[in-house]
Amino acid sequence: MSQYVVAGGTPLVGEVEIGGAKNAALGILAASIMTDETVTVENMPDVRDTNVLLDAMEGIGVEIHRPSRHVVNINGSRVRNVNIEYELIKKIRASYYLVGALLGKYREAEVPLPGGCNIGSRPIDQHIKGFRALGAEVDVEGGVIRARAEKLTGAHIYMDVVTVGATINIMMASCMAEGKTTIENAAKEPHVVDVANFLNSMGAKIRGAGTDVIRISGVRSLHAAEYSIIPDQIEAGTFMFASAITRGDIMIRNVIPKHLESISSKLMEMGCEVDEFDDAVRVVCARGLRPTQIKTLPYPGFPTDMQPQAGVTLATSGGVSTITESIFENRFKYVDEVVRMGADIKVEGNTSIIRGVPKLTGANITAPDLRAGAALVIAALAAEGCSVVDAIHYIERGYEDFELKLKHLGARIEKADGETEIRKQKLKLLSA
Ligand code: UD1
Repeated sequence: MSQYVVAGGTPLVGEVEIGGAKNAALGILAASIMTDETVTVENMPDVRDTNVLLDAMEGIGVEIHRPSRHVVNINGSRVRNVNIEYELIKKIRASYYLVGALLGKYREAEVPLPGGCNIGSRPIDQHIKGFRALGAEVDVEGGVIRARAEKLTGAHIYMDVVTVGATINIMMASCMAEGKTTIENAAKEPHVVDVANFLNSMGAKIRGAGTDVIRISGVRSLHAAEYSIIPDQIEAGTFMFASAITRGDIMIRNVIPKHLESISSKLMEMGCEVDEFDDAVRVVCARGLRPTQIKTLPYPGFPTDMQPQAGVTLATSGGVSTITESIFENRFKYVDEVVRMGADIKVEGNTSIIRGVPKLTGANITAPDLRAGAALVIAALAAEGCSVVDAIHYIERGYEDFELKLKHLGARIEKADGETEIRKQKLKLLSA
């Protein structure tokens, strides 16, 4: 397992370029196998989750070419089988998108059930409900989901909870079904819209993505497309909070400010200055932070994927804040770690009560999952002294060149692999 060695206490200042949205990329990659023609996807983030999915797709016969780091050409005409047998795919949540894509095109799919971040129980009942409504037989046995249909027929589907994954999966499964499908109470996240736009660029007929009613008219086939993925809302938000917690000044480029509104509003309530430009936001935090109340909600509410970054930042504010996590029950696992850095946080049920402290101090901490891992890194950057953040493979699932981007902003952070290197990097950072 690799670690980050971090010497904290330096405000982050400068510019950072945001990459393509990981969660949109995962849906788009799966959807790209629904045509026999070649699809070109640009602004593809080079992170572990997307690379694992690409490997799994190659494993069933999809041809993949990567002419450059952020561009990928995909041709799904030679898919040999619809049975994904790939140990690693269980580790990424979005493996289930292959069910929607394969079922939609081949009327059959067999995919190991998803793992992903351990942030709470993650049922797939709404995905199954949707596939069944379209006419598929679905069973889950031995950790594998199998879906099969003679014929898929459009249906009226009401989502009992707002779910990003099921909304995207049903859009894919239904876009070549016979007739019309309506998804009610659909998720409105930017990546739902991005996957819909991508499918439409391949000839699908999806209307209403971004609202809570999505209407899909089935088409016979999909065709080639060139598409550029939207910027990553959560990577951008992480750098916005990195600026706040280190009392920095960061210009975050290649973003869609509209997607960041809930994050910008909270940072302004906390006393930061947030300036919006066409495709950039600047977050300046010149003084102490004010406390606030946050509740995670589906888009356009405050994203659950930003909750840990907000939590560690509020731990350094001048008062009492609360965060209520309403999407995933197990998302406070970073709290024990940041408490070891001197934070004063108590968790009661799905709410954390955060009493701001004047400073955090460096400690040896372990990333419990992807976003919590990133949150602990930004906490370490604000803390006095040296920290070692272990299990950074979680962070690498969703952040491209994280430490390089932070270094570019003046962070003192190095990657290490084991005790000897940790000692070496600590000496290097402390003597600099
Ligand atoms: C996606 C994101 C994840 C983000 C989450 C919420 C990807 C790859 N991951 O996850 O980073 O944190 O959206 O924005 O895009 N639920 C059910 N039944 C289902 C499906 C979901 O009850 O069949 C519940 C979940 O337990 C959760 C809520 O619905 O409480 C939202 O989950 P969902 O939006 O589906 O999350 P993911 O798509 O897994």
